[in-house]
Amino acid sequence: MAPPAPSAGSIPLVKALILAGGAGTRLRPITHTRAKQLVPVANKPILFYGLEAIASAGIKEVGIIVGDTADEVRAAVGDGSAWGLDVSYLPQEAPLGLAHCVLIAREFLGDDDFVMYLGDNMLHQSLRGFVDTFEAARAAARTPTLEAGAADVPAAQILLKQVPDPHRFGVAELDRLGRVVRLVEKPADPPSDLALVGVYLFDARIHDAVAAIQPSARGELEITDAIQWLIDQGFGVNSDVLEGWWIDTGKLTPLLEANRLILETVEQRLDGEVGAGSRIDGRVVVESGARIERSTIRGPVIIGAGTTITDSYIGPFSAVGPNCRIERSEIEHSVLLGETSVIDAGRIEDSLLGYHVIVGRTDRRPRATRLMVGDHCQVDLA
Ligand code: G1P
Repeated sequence: MAPPAPSAGSIPLVKALILAGGAGTRLRPITHTRAKQLVPVANKPILFYGLEAIASAGIKEVGIIVGDTADEVRAAVGDGSAWGLDVSYLPQEAPLGLAHCVLIAREFLGDDDFVMYLGDNMLHQSLRGFVDTFEAARAAARTPTLEAGAADVPAAQILLKQVPDPHRFGVAELDRLGRVVRLVEKPADPPSDLALVGVYLFDARIHDAVAAIQPSARGELEITDAIQWLIDQGFGVNSDVLEGWWIDTGKLTPLLEANRLILETVEQRLDGEVGAGSRIDGRVVVESGARIERSTIRGPVIIGAGTTITDSYIGPFSAVGPNCRIERSEIEHSVLLGETSVIDAGRIEDSLLGYHVIVGRTDRRPRATRLMVGDHCQVDLA
């Protein structure tokens, strides 16, 4: 169903709070050294997908909560002008919870309505309809009609998604009209299969809520508890169920899965050099400065800037990051983050290689597999 257009009485929502702190322990080893929100999916940092979604929802002012990886996030996003956004940075001294982020963003947010967006989440659906629905519901409630009189203006709107493993998320219980009656964070016995997606809309009443709640068992101020507080005060909390895919990349990652979903959406674009004797099939992106020599690339595939592929095959659902070197090898359904070389490696499938990785072959005696592999890695020998 198409979202209602914002009515005349609605106030455009122009602010977003993006959460880009946290440690990223679940994405190790990839995030041992970098912010989980900057891990690339189809060669683009996860956080950039969120910034694009926020900009195309008509939002202008963005506050980004940053933690230990603040410098890296600032270096990647800058002042936000690349997206037409005005970005400011709000340091959080420790990961004390999503509601704590709202607490420390009080001055930035003022009394405006805002979107809160978890920087490691990726959504297929655009945010526009979600934002418009909230503002239209608020405008309608402010405008008394003959039948209804002034209904309560909703204080929040949450986005939900049916999931097979709700105990890993915040879970919502709805009444028959789709209104939220209860929220529980990571329940052992989930009341439904509707998980809270990391996108929330709030009005200024959320500030009273985050000030009123106590830390949870995991020592964090939970946004779920703050929204439950709104419900307990009798304030309306609306919900929308997401139809497209949603990936909480900070969890259970399937980074390969995220890449696969994004690669499904790429169109062919050959900005780099494709030499004679090479073959490009289907939806393949070759970034400028990349070179393909005597190789076959079968899409969907993305080849990053400055990468060279020689006498090789790159198969569907592969994302090869920038400045990689692939020679006499076959790669399929795999992600190479960048600056990595794969030479005489045979066939590699279902693999995730970080930055500055070297995979090669040697004639050195004794003949053996020699590994230097960091913590939390996995090697499956053929
Ligand atoms: C947080 C929220 C949870 C929500 C999830 C979505 O969980 O607390 O309610 O379902 O994000 O990504 P966390 O990532 O902090 O475990």
